[in-house]
Amino acid sequence: MASSRPPAGYDDPRGLPELRALVAERLARLRGVDCDPDEVRITAGTTAGLRHLLPALPPGPVAVDDPGYRAAAATVVLGGRGVVDVPAPGPPPSADVLARCAAAYLTPAHQHPFGPTMSGADRLAVLAASRSTGALLVEDDYDSEFRYDVAPVPALESLDRDRVAYLGTASKTVAPSMRLGWLVAPPALVGEVDRIRRVTHDSAAWPVQRAFLALLRDGYVDKVVRAARRVYAERAARVTAALATHGRTHGPVAGMYATVELSADATRRAQEAARRAGYDVPGLADYCRSHVRHGLVVGFGGCTDEQLDAALAALVRGLEG
Ligand SMILES: Cc1ncc(COP(=O)(O)O)c(C=O)c1O
Repeated sequence: MASSRPPAGYDDPRGLPELRALVAERLARLRGVDCDPDEVRITAGTTAGLRHLLPALPPGPVAVDDPGYRAAAATVVLGGRGVVDVPAPGPPPSADVLARCAAAYLTPAHQHPFGPTMSGADRLAVLAASRSTGALLVEDDYDSEFRYDVAPVPALESLDRDRVAYLGTASKTVAPSMRLGWLVAPPALVGEVDRIRRVTHDSAAWPVQRAFLALLRDGYVDKVVRAARRVYAERAARVTAALATHGRTHGPVAGMYATVELSADATRRAQEAARRAGYDVPGLADYCRSHVRHGLVVGFGGCTDEQLDAALAALVRGLEG
């Protein structure tokens, strides 16, 4: 058991050994990632892990889905690199694209924000492109635990440890405010990642690591995931049923949001009606950079069923009005 008092100096920048051991065990069991606890680094979340990887890479931009995870694109830019937009949904970046890039940022279990899982053929293709160009693949595995129907597809990292850096997060199982995640870097990069974390003192807060360790040990995280998978599957079906006649729904296979494509005008009307009812529903265009598409990204993780129904009713009023 770790001491209950904060360490007097900076703690081990890799993270609490007990937490790294539990994370490694869960990664092996749930994600097919075969790593030793010594290879796991505890971070302050997904973007912190990305921030620690970027300076360890050779110069060059990073390929990011467009639309894609906004915080990842912002982290790349703030890290002093360009972003190469990869139109989504679509095939992963090709060898031609990766030849111009230091890395590609991917969400293979559940493309953000459209939702498909990367196919086996696309996984093999992007790994081959990474091997032939040397560009690193950064796997953001943010919500794979919440796959509704079947066990999630094993992580891309499980196919090639040398080409993929794996990022996990507690933001979906506990809360984004927790600011806790984990990173498994390829063996060739881990020394430089450790150096960056050591010289910047940029590691996860000790009390937060202790809190997450307790939540894992007493089964809270597993309980949340088991219960939420069912609830989220039902909510996703409700969103799809309510909006399917108005636009192109992307019925999700996992997670806590569903995306529907609409015209720009219909999107505006729906958002305004939702806002009048007290709900702020993000537009798909907010996730886009050079490939603008319109529609709604309807999140249903932090609400009640009643609130979701009220928000959907408002969206439909706006669409039909
Ligand atoms: C695609 C994606 N990745 C990762 C995260 C979580 O990031 P963090 O761990 O920095 O909170 C989110 C949260 O919304 C997300 O949408």
